[in-house]
Amino acid sequence: MAEESLFHEVVGLLPQQNCGDGVLFPVVLSPNLTLAKTVKLTEAIKVNRSWLDSILHRSGAILFRGFDVSSASDFNEVVESSGYENFCHPIGGAAYRTKVVGRVYTANEAPPDQNIPFHHEMSHAPVFPSKLFFFCEEQPGSGGETCIALSHVIYERMKQKHPKFVEEMEEKGLIYSRVLGEESDPSSPVGRSWMDTFTTDKKAIAEERAAKLRMKLEWMDGAVRVIMGPMPAFKYDEVRNRKIWFNGLVGEMKDKLNDDPSKAVMFSDGKPLPTDVPSDCAKIFDEECVALQWQKGDVLLLDNLAVMHSRRPLITQPRRVLASFCK
Ligand code: FE2
Repeated sequence: MAEESLFHEVVGLLPQQNCGDGVLFPVVLSPNLTLAKTVKLTEAIKVNRSWLDSILHRSGAILFRGFDVSSASDFNEVVESSGYENFCHPIGGAAYRTKVVGRVYTANEAPPDQNIPFHHEMSHAPVFPSKLFFFCEEQPGSGGETCIALSHVIYERMKQKHPKFVEEMEEKGLIYSRVLGEESDPSSPVGRSWMDTFTTDKKAIAEERAAKLRMKLEWMDGAVRVIMGPMPAFKYDEVRNRKIWFNGLVGEMKDKLNDDPSKAVMFSDGKPLPTDVPSDCAKIFDEECVALQWQKGDVLLLDNLAVMHSRRPLITQPRRVLASFCK
């Protein structure tokens, strides 16, 4: 920790993992009140930006807790203070989100009692955000934790458990298929309509935009099947020099319109995935994840390559988490 830092690192407040060299996952930072009576998060971020970058590089996740961030506009200012460029509300993403203010959107609006499996944000698109900010505007009654896991650890564990399968994934890549309706369905985690997904009501324009995202469209009665891939199942994190899990094997949520859910994820040659593998992978995620219980005002910063995230079902209302993505 830098001596003059406006941050104070908190250890043991919530579950954390040791990533080696004394770095924890996630790093938890609160205001350093030995230096000033009050510390504004925007100010602290501006002053300690390069130090924060190095922490994010080593840990992959930073939770800012105990700062005076209470509204969506406060959160927007925090995001602006980071200096990271805005990643605009994406064309082609699956989740239904609404703009709140500035660079701030609702997090996935899927019904709170549903689980959202582990995923990287926009991992199907050729361009995806590199950093994600989340903010807890309304603290969950109970449940609704955001879980985070290190994607290189998942890769290593899966390679140990299913070496042949991982080799085949590596060699062939994966194909995803999803059916989008004409109207957005807020009751589904992947319920964005095709018109909202491609921000047009013209089929030809949707096709053009889909092609740029390396997606193929097959029109059905009012709906459209989107075929994505073949896509590599893993990526190489060049900054950290390690291979990472970067696919929708567990994150690919079954959309309600898909007539054959077994085709949601396949090897690129059309061969179905072995049935036991996705559940083994989900088990590994369970063992390797850190579950964050939100407190009002929390701001979470994730590296979208190093870290995957999920949402546990909410047991007691309310819960309102907002999001902002950066390039
Ligand atoms: Fe997400």
